[in-house]
Amino acid sequence: MKPKVFSTHGLFPPARTLLEKSFDVDYWSREERPPRDELLRRVADKDALICLLTEKVNDELLDRAPKLRIAATVSVGYDNIDVPACTRRKIIATHTPGVLDDTTADFAFALLMAVARRVVEGDAWMRTGTWPGWNLDQLCGGDIWGKTLGIIGFGRIGRAVAKRAQGFDMRILYSDARRAAPEAERDLHAEFVSLDRLLAESDFISVHVPLLPETRHLINAQTLAKMKPGAYLINTSRGPVVDEAALAAALEAKTIRGAALDVFESEPKVLPALVGRKDVVLTPHIASASVETRTKMAMMAAENVIALFEGRRPANALNPEALAAAT
Ligand code: DGY
Repeated sequence: MKPKVFSTHGLFPPARTLLEKSFDVDYWSREERPPRDELLRRVADKDALICLLTEKVNDELLDRAPKLRIAATVSVGYDNIDVPACTRRKIIATHTPGVLDDTTADFAFALLMAVARRVVEGDAWMRTGTWPGWNLDQLCGGDIWGKTLGIIGFGRIGRAVAKRAQGFDMRILYSDARRAAPEAERDLHAEFVSLDRLLAESDFISVHVPLLPETRHLINAQTLAKMKPGAYLINTSRGPVVDEAALAAALEAKTIRGAALDVFESEPKVLPALVGRKDVVLTPHIASASVETRTKMAMMAAENVIALFEGRRPANALNPEALAAAT
């Protein structure tokens, strides 16, 4: 009998084909995310779970899945998975690092450009049919080239953003818990600075930290107040890294000039105070959403599951110690 997998998404054809060779796969194929009780019911007899960042893999779920050996999230961020809870049960948790860095960095840059150059406002205006024709002072935004970009979190995605900024002759500052190697700083022309200095000197701030207790509300009323007047904030990391109410207040007070957000504190909800603002660009958590990248992410999750059942160590295990304990 083939091992049983519950996949909370229909995935993409190449990942399905790969999985179905060795597993009996039960897919959640509806557009809306599975209700919690349905998820708990469907995982009960499964050997493996492939899930999205919208599904919480915690004690409650793991208690209901006594046969589970692996929980593979199709995302690089894994704040949806209680990794220690998995480890306690000798369940491997995996994620999908590496394959989405450039796609996400492209999108962070797209947001940066969209908010600075007022692309969304321009598009909305054109669709009303009321554009009277060219004029000198229409939708003047802020320049990007030659400005200072502050990158908070200088991991793979932050560095990919720095690489793009070089094409715009930007000065690059970064802050991170750990300083990058001198070669990386040299190649990316990036200067390591304190968070306070980054906030004070950057015209654009792009956030690329994981969601951890210490990064929750990292951007709050105090840090927003330290930002350079007229700066822009871009967030493609995790919504709770930014205190949305504080951001709305800073925008209202015009201490900063704009924000572009792909992620939100309580997805799928967006703070109403942000929705009506023209100085905010909002997108529905799509920074990694290219067909190529999302397919690679699904393949990676499938390969992690396959590796485990073939007796190999999943390449993207978050808790390889659970594997050692299980053997
Ligand atoms: C992730 O992978 O963590 C993103 O938020 C979705 O690509």
